[in-house]
Parts: sequence; C-alpha cells; structure tokens
Amino acid sequence: MPHRYRLQFPAAQEHNLDQDQAYFNLVEDGTQRKYLFHDYDRIYTKPGLYEQLFYERLKCNSPQKVAKLLEVSLIAEWANRNELRVLDLGAGNGMMAEQLRNLGVARIVGADIIPEAREAAYRDRPYVYDDYVVADFTDLPETVTQDLIEWRFDCLTSVAALGFGDIPPLAFFSALKLIETNGWVAFNIKETFLDRSDRTGFSRMVRELIFSEYMDVHILERYTHRLSMEGVPLKYYALVGRLTAAIPDDFLDRVEANGN
Ligand SMILES: C[S@@+](CC[C@H](N)C(=O)[O-])C[C@H]1O[C@@H](n2cnc3c(N)ncnc32)[C@H](O)[C@@H]1O
Repeated sequence: MPHRYRLQFPAAQEHNLDQDQAYFNLVEDGTQRKYLFHDYDRIYTKPGLYEQLFYERLKCNSPQKVAKLLEVSLIAEWANRNELRVLDLGAGNGMMAEQLRNLGVARIVGADIIPEAREAAYRDRPYVYDDYVVADFTDLPETVTQDLIEWRFDCLTSVAALGFGDIPPLAFFSALKLIETNGWVAFNIKETFLDRSDRTGFSRMVRELIFSEYMDVHILERYTHRLSMEGVPLKYYALVGRLTAAIPDDFLDRVEANGN
C-alpha cells in the first residue's frame, strides 16, 4: 500500500496565489512543514507525495491527455509508434514516460534539471526510462549534447513543465534542436500562453513556432490540466506538432527582436 500523507491547503484568504507561489503544508509526526508546489526536489524525495498532491487531490490528467493526442496523431499519419525515440523534457518521476511506455514507443530518455527527479523516477518507475539525463538545457555541456544526438530522437515530450518558472525558452529550444526533421513534438501549456497579451518569452516563442514554417500543428486541444487549490479547473492547451524543417539557430533571437 502506498504511504498516505496528511496535506493541508492554505486558508481561503490566501487563495488566488499565482500558480508558481501556490503551497501546501505537509503534516508529519505532529510537525507542519510548508512546501511550494515548485519544491520538486523536496516533494520527490517522499515516495507518492507528488502523485497524491497533483494527480489525486488536484486531478491532473495531462500525461494521459498529451500521450493520447500523440497517439491519435501518429495513427492519423500512419506513423509507427514502435520505432519512436522520445526525449521527455522536465521528466520528473516518470508520469509521462509511463504513458509513453504504454503506447509502446521504442526508446525514452528522461531529462530534468534536478537529480532528485531522476532518483525518484528510478525508484518509482524503474522500467520506463532507457536513460535519464540530469542537466540544465540552457547550458548543456558538449559531451551531454553529443550523447543526446546519438539517440537520434524523433519525438520531444514535455508535460506540466513549460513556463511558470520551470523550463525557460532556451532550454525548450535546445531540446527541440535535438529532434530530427519530421519528428514529433507533444507538450502542454497554460491557455494564456497563446494569448497575445501574454508577453513572456515562452509564450512568444510558442506562438512564433506555431505559425512558423518549421512545425505543422496536428492537434491543438483546450482541456482541464488540473484543479487549482480552490477547485477551479485550470485550462491548458495540449499541442501535438511535427517538425517540417531544421529550426535555425537564431530563431529565439528573432522572436526576441520581433517582440511578438
Ligand atoms: C510539474 S513537474 C512535471 C513532471 C512530469 N513531466 C509530469 O508530468 O508529472 C515539472 C518538472 O520540470 C522540471 N524542470 C523545471 N525546470 C527545468 C529545466 N530548466 N530543465 C529541465 N527540467 C526542469 C522540474 O524539476 C520538474 O521535475
């Protein structure tokens, strides 16, 4: 039986915190400790806590949703999923990789910025990853880049990890550059990231990519990613695309310069 944790959410007057300031209290042995939702290093060290918080209590279903839409796109294009070599960025403890394993893809390499994520993935889902890289994708060492190139990835997934102080544009771009032309991209983003009023770098990059000649969008679906602490559905877009040409190295600089 998985261990059950005692979680307490803040009182109502503290609600409406930004998504990256949200927190809960973990009560253990009579002691209450505050955890930010983004304290992944601390959360992953406690087996089952991540799942209990995000997947049970807050009803996150994004790995299932993004994996399902990837599957639908592959079927529509008569693409062979059994040959897919996937880089899973912001992999955490393997929730997305578990879905990809169920899909029957050939290879899955996880990538995350914190070692606690890899430790938790190997502890909780030892059967899902062929390899797992702990690295900062904004500043990849040359040796790591070379190792990753050798995997010849033709699919990038990134679930519940883009924007909001998690994966920045440069890290996502570095991962995209590792995907072969005709390869697939499947990720989710908060709905406001597609809104022109959102001026953050990540949002501008994704909008530019969607309308670029470097990617065809196969599916863009609005759905409920999870509930907020107040029980309000948080709306996200799941996107599945296919790379149509090599993305130029100065793509991000151009996005910056355009100010879109
Ligand atoms: C909410 S978790 C999502 C984990 C998993 N994909 C899932 O769906 O359950 C976000 C993950 O992104 C990772 N992350 C944050 N910034 C990152 C970065 N710059 N590069 C790689 N991973 C990052 C975090 O360490 C964390 O494991």
